[in-house]
Amino acid sequence: MDKDKRLRFDTMSIHGGKEDEKNPKNALNPPIFQTSTFVFNDTEHVKKVFSFESSDYVYTRGNNPTLRLFENRMSVLEEGKAGVAFASGMAAISSVLFSLLKPGDNVIINKTLYGSSYNVATQLLPKYEVNYKAVNLCKLKELEQAIDENTKVIYFETPANPSLSIIDIEHISKIAKACNIKVVVDNTFATPYFQRPLVLGADVVVHSATKYISGHGDVVAGVAVSKDEEYIHKLKFDYMCEFGGVMSPFNGWLLLRGLKTLGVRMREHERNAIKLAHYLLEHKKVRQVYYPGLEGFDGYDIAKKQMDGFGAIISFEVEGRLSDAKKVVNNVKLAQLAVSLGDCETLIELPAAMTHLGYPRDKLAEFGLTESMIRISVGLENIEDIIEDLDNALSLI
Ligand SMILES: Cc1ncc(COP(=O)(O)O)c(C=O)c1O
Repeated sequence: MDKDKRLRFDTMSIHGGKEDEKNPKNALNPPIFQTSTFVFNDTEHVKKVFSFESSDYVYTRGNNPTLRLFENRMSVLEEGKAGVAFASGMAAISSVLFSLLKPGDNVIINKTLYGSSYNVATQLLPKYEVNYKAVNLCKLKELEQAIDENTKVIYFETPANPSLSIIDIEHISKIAKACNIKVVVDNTFATPYFQRPLVLGADVVVHSATKYISGHGDVVAGVAVSKDEEYIHKLKFDYMCEFGGVMSPFNGWLLLRGLKTLGVRMREHERNAIKLAHYLLEHKKVRQVYYPGLEGFDGYDIAKKQMDGFGAIISFEVEGRLSDAKKVVNNVKLAQLAVSLGDCETLIELPAAMTHLGYPRDKLAEFGLTESMIRISVGLENIEDIIEDLDNALSLI
């Protein structure tokens, strides 16, 4: 393949990032290099590999050919220069934050974040004298007021989990660059198919690859990508390798398999989500629908500008109380009551009681969620069946 030619996304998700023209033994698929260690020819070879003069391998906690292919492919899809695979999304997020912050620094986080990411910023980092400020990054004035001389990182998800709020990556990156601050974006909900934060000016992109990148609910994994190769080298060898949050080669292989259908899946996920969002919007027992693809949604214009599609996560509020929301999630039959998202199966949950249980109860509204908010990850089933399933559950309240 001509390395300089930029092929289209669906092609790159199948062929991108290959270092060798052919797989061993002419196999169509890359092998799983299920090995902990690698054998050297002699001490001269050792010297070359340890000094990075050769890109051969030492030990899987540092690097592995299956993982390198996954990292390269993710890097191509995100339009970065290099990436690091991690054992989970949280391993990627915590390693990136620890790698960019030191005692005395500040991190600015968006108020709405996945529960464990929020906990890292508000519980773990302060133990190492890294302070945080939680602001509503949809309001750029709030960001400007929060920045001080110690601010070193701005961290957010867009769309955010579970409010789906949309944050202007390009605008924030411009403000950050002027103040020498790094911008880290969790791109889990959008995937590189719908949004490429590095192109919009972000410094690092992180993913829970557990979600759409895998796509089949059978892997826990993470990845970080950047245009800064030197930073990625440091992240890999000083943090991933030393904290030890390495991905297993088998999971890397499953993710490469998942990536082959990322574009196909995202198109279908989104098609289903748009239909479901409109159904919910019309339903008299539904009070509010949060989905960036709805024209009346707050972040619609920014989503249209910075994304190629709106994704397939919807949150909504039903009329009534928490007991009514519970009735809905307890009475769906096809949609599965579970945390996680991005799988073929439609998953439904109550974020305040599940994925975001760590949020202070008295601050839920401030953080963009309520006890009764329902989040749904729209799957790949026939959407008419999912609508009938929800219709039945909603008829009980
Ligand atoms: C937006 C987002 N980021 C990060 C994570 C954490 O990823 P993992 O569970 O792979 O550690 C999640 C998990 O749900 C998530 O939704």
